[in-house]
Amino acid sequence: MNTTSILHSDKYCMAIILAAGKGTRMKGETPKVMRKLLGEPMLGWVISALAPIFGDQMLAVFGHKANLVKKAFPYVDSVRQAPQLGTGHALQTAISALSDKWQNYLVINGDAPLVTTPIIERFLQESHGSDLSFATITLPDPGSYGRVIRDCQNKVIAIVEARDLKSYLDKMGGSQNCANANEVNAGLYFISTKVIEKLLPQLNNQNNSGEYYITDLIDLAVKNNMDCRGISCGNDPGLSGVNSPLELANAENILSKRINDGLMQAGVILHNPDLVRCGPLALIDPGCEITGPCEIYGETIIAGETVIESHCVIINSKIMPKAHIKSFCHIENAIVGPAAQAGPYCRLRPKAFLGENAHAGNFVELKNAVLGKDSKANHLTYLGDAEIGSGVNIGAGTITCNYDGARKHKTVIGDNAFIGSNTAIVAPLEIGGNTLVGAGSTLTRNVPDNEMAIARSRQVNMPKPAAHNKK
Ligand code: UD1
Ligand code: CA
Repeated sequence: MNTTSILHSDKYCMAIILAAGKGTRMKGETPKVMRKLLGEPMLGWVISALAPIFGDQMLAVFGHKANLVKKAFPYVDSVRQAPQLGTGHALQTAISALSDKWQNYLVINGDAPLVTTPIIERFLQESHGSDLSFATITLPDPGSYGRVIRDCQNKVIAIVEARDLKSYLDKMGGSQNCANANEVNAGLYFISTKVIEKLLPQLNNQNNSGEYYITDLIDLAVKNNMDCRGISCGNDPGLSGVNSPLELANAENILSKRINDGLMQAGVILHNPDLVRCGPLALIDPGCEITGPCEIYGETIIAGETVIESHCVIINSKIMPKAHIKSFCHIENAIVGPAAQAGPYCRLRPKAFLGENAHAGNFVELKNAVLGKDSKANHLTYLGDAEIGSGVNIGAGTITCNYDGARKHKTVIGDNAFIGSNTAIVAPLEIGGNTLVGAGSTLTRNVPDNEMAIARSRQVNMPKPAAHNKK
């Protein structure tokens, strides 16, 4: 079967993501699906796996802090579940929000960031033609997962939630479950309209959690002689849920290894790859060399032959070819030009731009500032709201005083200027091209092209006072 062609035929299947839960086991106030893995919210990973198959035929159910989640995913249709009465109730909420009727629904838990497009494709193929299917995995420790109960012919009977397992087995006398006690429900379902119309309204909350379980649909479908399939996916980690900080860390490690293996296969050199963290949106050219530990997140582009040394954090930035980012740099929403150098210990804040072959050295901070081609600020400097031409030398300790307590002001420095050490430039101010500024100056007036400015009190030499002589 060709999943794509079937999917696009006659409203075959749309996707519903259950993402309304708070994530109690994760603690804290942040909704679980907003917890980040490699810089991207958990839900983003699920959406990215679904998107190649479903495009925008997706509906997400938000609940806890729904507005915050909606703001992070404005391009996804969503419905609000309030209060959150369980996964079955989340599905009921989604269905009642739909104006169109679909033949089937692919329902997935929003806390499954490891899921991939091929896993979903395979599941859709194997569930094709069924009334209700769900993916199962086999775990050494089934923990809090819903247990898959099969009869002795290996036919699915029910999913029983961990909290209800004891009462279920007591009721059944343990006799029903011939199959593998470690087979669990992965939280990925294929549900036909027949099940939605006939069985979804029948869910109740008579269980140990007092919640409406989506998983109770299985028992109902079996009792109604429907075609119900538990599709075994072995021990595929791609179907693990993330409920706790430990599971979040494990999932992040798996994602990181996936990405890094792909980068290395493509020709990116990673030293200490276990400690290199690259987000899914980062584009890194073959031939780049990156040493861990370091973190590269967001829509970052790192072009060919660039070297990134250890302990750098680079977010939503563009690093052009042959740049050299030395250790301990923090770069966010910034651009580093071709063959430019940053660091060690350099901070490039939003709208910082290092021109071609420019150098920003240790303890140099740029914000909304251009340091032009071949210009250098090598030590202990703050350049904010500044436009600095090419071939400029900024001495150690130079500060653009850009903020007067209320507003920001701009500094402009022309080509080939030489700014002496420990200069304070009180903006707004323009320093012309080919100028020379004496060390220790506090500039409050513009400096015309080709001139020299010294703005400090003149040194006076005189005999030392007698009282200061020790003998
Ligand atoms: C669920 C399954 C369990 C399965 C496991 C797989 C149920 C009852 N149990 O358990 O069988 O083994 O996933 O990972 O479904 N959610 C809502 N609204 C709610 C409650 C939850 O949208 O009212 C969302 C959550 O945000 C989450 C997903 O549904 O993304 C699953 O909820 P969660 O509480 O994590 O279920 P589990 O206990 O893990
Ligand atoms: Ca879960």
